[in-house]
Amino acid sequence: METRFELTEQNYRYLFDNASDAMWVHDMEGNILDANKACEKLTGYTRDELVGMNITRFLTEEFLDAAREVKRKLLEGEAIEQSYEQRLLRKDGIIGIMKMATSLVIIGGEIRGFQHIARDVTTEKQMQENMRFYVGQITRAQEDERKLIARQLHDDMAPPLLLLIQRLDSVTSRTRPKLHNSLKDALEDLRNQVIEALEYLRRFAQDLRPRILDDLGLIAALEWIAEDLAKNYGIDAHVEVAGIEHSLSAEVQLLLFRIAQEALSNIRRHAKASMAEVELKFENNKVRLSISDNGKGFDLPSHPESLASTGKLGIIGMYERARLLGGSLKVQSELGKGTQVVAEVPLPE
Ligand SMILES: Nc1ncnc2c1ncn2[C@@H]1O[C@H](COP(=O)(O)OP(=O)(O)OP(=O)(O)O)[C@@H](O)[C@H]1O
Ligand SMILES: [Mg+2]
Repeated sequence: METRFELTEQNYRYLFDNASDAMWVHDMEGNILDANKACEKLTGYTRDELVGMNITRFLTEEFLDAAREVKRKLLEGEAIEQSYEQRLLRKDGIIGIMKMATSLVIIGGEIRGFQHIARDVTTEKQMQENMRFYVGQITRAQEDERKLIARQLHDDMAPPLLLLIQRLDSVTSRTRPKLHNSLKDALEDLRNQVIEALEYLRRFAQDLRPRILDDLGLIAALEWIAEDLAKNYGIDAHVEVAGIEHSLSAEVQLLLFRIAQEALSNIRRHAKASMAEVELKFENNKVRLSISDNGKGFDLPSHPESLASTGKLGIIGMYERARLLGGSLKVQSELGKGTQVVAEVPLPE
């Protein structure tokens, strides 16, 4: 035999009162008709204070735009994104952030008001912001350190190696006729090894912080890595510049360069591509950097942050750098077709 299961009004009342999310209902003018215990905690007002109060007391004028937009969309039957974020002014004067879902109250076929469910995400949001700030500081500190090490390698370590090569040359040329053949070969070997060490050191310093970026700017530096891909890895790589070129701050140039450097290093290491294209496009109020390849593509996880736990930090680093510049980044990849990374960064007015 089938058992009918129905919630009585009393059951609903219990759910409403004891839900851990704040809930309240207000009429078309914004006068609160009912609110639960969690709403007391969220707003700082008691239930008695809340009932009859107008929502503009905690959704003050400065935060009301978002709420009005939601109201308008609901009334016009447009879809709204649930849940959305909304700021509120608590009774103690502190501004909080909540995640809200809103729907219409319809009685007898008529719209009579709005009901809301809200979760306090203030602490979470603050933690996220602190984390972002921290990541920003670390990224900047890392760049400063790289610059310092690159400069030291270049200025302090390269000259003694150069001197050593010159001294080996002069010893060999002065004493050449008198030298035994095996010693001549040994000196020649030694000279080649020092040249090789110097070459490694220069490459390492360039990777840490390419001088070309500081001296000649982003476009020259992008061309430099593209040439390296073509010359040393057989990938046909090009740089295209479109739109009217704006001057970019040193920080924007550096972070965009790091994004391209990582994307191109991924192409070199993972893509098995024969072609790579870097495009820097200047638009009215933003600059768009796109790096694409015709390689094997990959499945990007739906939450790219999960890559971090497997020690893969490249893609996340690109997202963070774009965000540091107030911009955004998109990665699109299709198996067998290739991958495209696009960073968009706003330009100052
Ligand atoms: N252009 C690409 N083509 C094919 N696969 C790619 C491409 N870019 C990234 N991937 C895949 O995505 C994964 C994550 O990339 P990510 O740059 O985050 O990490 P990684 O390159 O493996 O390591 P890290 O950058 O930290 O040295 C790579 O391991 C690779 O499997
Ligand atoms: Mg990588």
